[in-house]
Amino acid sequence: MCGIFGYLGKKNSIKACLNGLKLLEYRGYDSAGIAAIKNNRLINFKASGKISSLEKKIHLKHLNLDIAIGHTRWATHGKANDKNAHPHFDEKKHIAIVHNGIIENYDVLKKDLKDKGFKFRSETDSEVIAQLLSKNYKNDLLETTIKTLTELKGSLAIALIHKNHPNEIVCATRESPLVIGFDDKKNEFLISSDLNAFLGRNLNVIFLKNDEIAHIKQKEIKVINLKKQIIFKKLEKLNSKNQNFSKKGFKHYLLKEIFEQPLTIQKAYLGRIFEEKGQVEFEHLNFTKSFLSQIDNIIITACGTSYHAALIAKTYFEEKANILTSAEIASEMRFKNLLVTPNTLVIAISQSGETADTIAALKLAKEKKAKTLSIVNVQNSTIARMTEESIFLKAGPERSVCSTKAFTSQITVLYLLAIYLARQRSMQKKEGMLFLKELKKTPNKVRKVLQISSLIKEKAKKYAKFENIFFLGRNLMFPTALEAALKLKEISYVNANAYPAGEMKHGPLALISQKVPVIAFLANKKTYDKMLSSLMEAKARGALILAFASKNSYGIEDIADDVIWLENTIDELSIFPSSVAAQLFAYFVAVIRKTDIDHPRNLAKSVTVE
Ligand code: G6P
Repeated sequence: MCGIFGYLGKKNSIKACLNGLKLLEYRGYDSAGIAAIKNNRLINFKASGKISSLEKKIHLKHLNLDIAIGHTRWATHGKANDKNAHPHFDEKKHIAIVHNGIIENYDVLKKDLKDKGFKFRSETDSEVIAQLLSKNYKNDLLETTIKTLTELKGSLAIALIHKNHPNEIVCATRESPLVIGFDDKKNEFLISSDLNAFLGRNLNVIFLKNDEIAHIKQKEIKVINLKKQIIFKKLEKLNSKNQNFSKKGFKHYLLKEIFEQPLTIQKAYLGRIFEEKGQVEFEHLNFTKSFLSQIDNIIITACGTSYHAALIAKTYFEEKANILTSAEIASEMRFKNLLVTPNTLVIAISQSGETADTIAALKLAKEKKAKTLSIVNVQNSTIARMTEESIFLKAGPERSVCSTKAFTSQITVLYLLAIYLARQRSMQKKEGMLFLKELKKTPNKVRKVLQISSLIKEKAKKYAKFENIFFLGRNLMFPTALEAALKLKEISYVNANAYPAGEMKHGPLALISQKVPVIAFLANKKTYDKMLSSLMEAKARGALILAFASKNSYGIEDIADDVIWLENTIDELSIFPSSVAAQLFAYFVAVIRKTDIDHPRNLAKSVTVE
């Protein structure tokens, strides 16, 4: 989704912006652009498609400029073309802006500006900001920005430059992340909507909060609010000099991240489990003991893959900790009457920590005075900063739009949390010990799945030709099926439907035929027999069946056309080998269907609009 990168310093600012934008590519985008100031004139470059197309339009040699702002756009208002790509300008082309978010009152403002004679070039809501800044401009960029912000409704992170202020960048934010990094020794300032754009650098960073405006002028940075009061920001250190995004020899980030899972699952529990006591401890969980023991209702909110992790956690929290739990799709939560009591805990799950729908759901929970906890991969992310407490996944940066390692890390952390809460209630030491002992075997069981990847690839060849596929599972294997179907949709563009197998007879069975295969998850012992019956019904209607089953199961090979055998484990943990096998299956189907796995169509890694 949209990304901002700005640079002020002695390096070639356009080159710096191109590099920054490349680090934001993983978020998903469909066009990009850069604006800079040359000889008191604004210049710009825009291209739909990849950053590489933008790069081809720029002859860096002749452009050794100190200041530039850049953007990757994910279309919301208007098609993905050069005209709608950022930066946007006012009519006179004195001001250039880049914007993330959505201006909710843009149509009213646009009409008003048009009535006043302003001419618009694009279909975007963002152009309104540039025109409004121009209308309000009276030689002072800060004053102009403050006035403009008071007229805008909605979410925004903006960076702007003006042709008459060749040493200044102003940026501001409201409900959309923006971080400024600076290197005192090199006199460089970097602006971005995503900390990942600073990868490979050691910097001092500050995060702007709602309605804060940063004015970067030559060697200084000043932050004020809408009342023009100076805000003293906390300086934080980013040490990422020795880090980089690399595929480490894998063809795609997705495959690399699938193969990281034995390690990332381990990282999620290392230092947190005490097997001999059957106990779990988290580094910084500072809720009081009395609150923790009195929680009587947990609401988990998330989107996409993280929501599927929430569904799995719901079952486990209820079964093991005896706490009533609901899993809510974040974008739906605002329409509900959220029932929060003093003993309610709201948990937000998010890999990126920046998903706008999850942020909005969290806000609602906070308004209702709920206690909040986040489970996130990105430290310092908006969601981590919004919640009272956070548990980090420690999975390392996830670049692929398809979330894989974050999902298995989320489940690991959620299981640990369930044990943590359950042990303060009725769970006995022995049960905790047994679970943790099994959990420690999981990385190895996942490794065994990775070892049969060529077999999974063979099976994928057979199923890749179908346009519609059903994914079935029951109990914990139903969210597993949902997640497996989502992976296939995201990168293979196959119409993949996931159902709890028992529901098939209540309608969807009408769709089953020789043309619609079934992929079934049977590694859950509790649901095994029932799953066999459902599969018999599908088989009777001619469906081809691929089953993911535990090694010691019986009977499935007589029903299914293909079986992928997985390591045996306890029901709760069978999600891990099953999900990793399904991730590999989706990956290989996408390879066979020749889709752009690193940049799946229409999708964004970090969805920063509601
Ligand atoms: C986007 C991504 C999904 C992801 C979802 C939630 O839609 O394409 O892969 O699961 O956002 O992201 P989060 O960062 O909040 O887990």
